[in-house]
Amino acid sequence: MRSYKIALIKGDGIGPEIIDEAVKVLDAVSYAEGFEIKYDEFLLGGAAIDAVGEPAPKETLEGVKQADAILFGAIGGDKWDNLPRDKRPETGLLKLRKELEVFANLRPVTVYDELVNASTLKPSVIQGVDLVVVRELIGGIYFGQPRENNGERAYNTMVYTKSEIVRIAKVAFETAMKRSKRVCSVDKANVLDVSQLWRDTVEEVAKEYPEVTLTHMYVDNAAMQLIRDPKQFDVILTGNIFGDILSDEASMLSGSIGLLPSASIGEKYGLYEPIHGSAPDIAGQGIANPIATIASAAMMLRYALNEESAANRIESAIKQTLQDGYRTQDLSAFDAKEVCSTSEIGSIIANYASK
Ligand code: IPM
Ligand code: MN
Repeated sequence: MRSYKIALIKGDGIGPEIIDEAVKVLDAVSYAEGFEIKYDEFLLGGAAIDAVGEPAPKETLEGVKQADAILFGAIGGDKWDNLPRDKRPETGLLKLRKELEVFANLRPVTVYDELVNASTLKPSVIQGVDLVVVRELIGGIYFGQPRENNGERAYNTMVYTKSEIVRIAKVAFETAMKRSKRVCSVDKANVLDVSQLWRDTVEEVAKEYPEVTLTHMYVDNAAMQLIRDPKQFDVILTGNIFGDILSDEASMLSGSIGLLPSASIGEKYGLYEPIHGSAPDIAGQGIANPIATIASAAMMLRYALNEESAANRIESAIKQTLQDGYRTQDLSAFDAKEVCSTSEIGSIIANYASK
């Protein structure tokens, strides 16, 4: 029997609840498809700070590398907000991404037909949106040196090397080749030198993909266009911080940030995580939407384990669940037939996915 090892990082806030539902669904599809998944749990973020005093323990950074893929919930919370930066939960996640060299963050945005009324935008604007943000994840201003805050003056540095831009651009073009063959590269080349290098390099890489249409957009315009006419986009290629901001914005096209999955991929490792945070305000109440995490598990099956059919099962099950009117609280106002708890919606998806 095919057997896989998955590292689970539940994290903080709603992290444990949503990961439990993803595991439920993974168990259902692996059984149905005739393979087996074994899980190992690791600590990161606030949970790790509480247990061992640091956000990214060595045991986690090394341990997760033994797995075929890593499924991650969410980290952070008020409790740890006043710690020095190197002790914050977010620093733990950044260290993990860096350690695994997962430079490419794929954030697909799907608008489910059943939820066209859930967005704050008009249905005519969002119906049929199908785009993916390809965000560079381990460079740019998040990691640039030097950086300092001496209480009077503070700065960060936005750095990209040509090779960093080439490798993320290739991911975007490869992604586009499997879709509508359009890449829109987002930068701020009218102001930033780092963006000029980004733009020139993306142009060079584009020559290897003559079938793909490349356009460039300044990030301020892109933020506006995403709301004005999101259907114009297929693949959005961008750097770390612009991708962070634009993907939160893009999530609102789908109606809830609780729906959007992501895959962070490098040469060797893959980290799969919902794009949302740990939502401490609703943690432990059984009302979190686990769909983003369950959809991330589907991406993990597809990209890390090559279990395409199991991935499709999950994605169809999510659609079916929404079509049948099952909704978590965040979406309860939109054609809900039944409002479900986190664990109820997980069970419904698991059940559909196993059929
Ligand atoms: C995300 C998050 C992270 C980021 C934080 C938690 C460090 O916002 O995954 O989008 O900024 O990358
Ligand atoms: Mn973010």
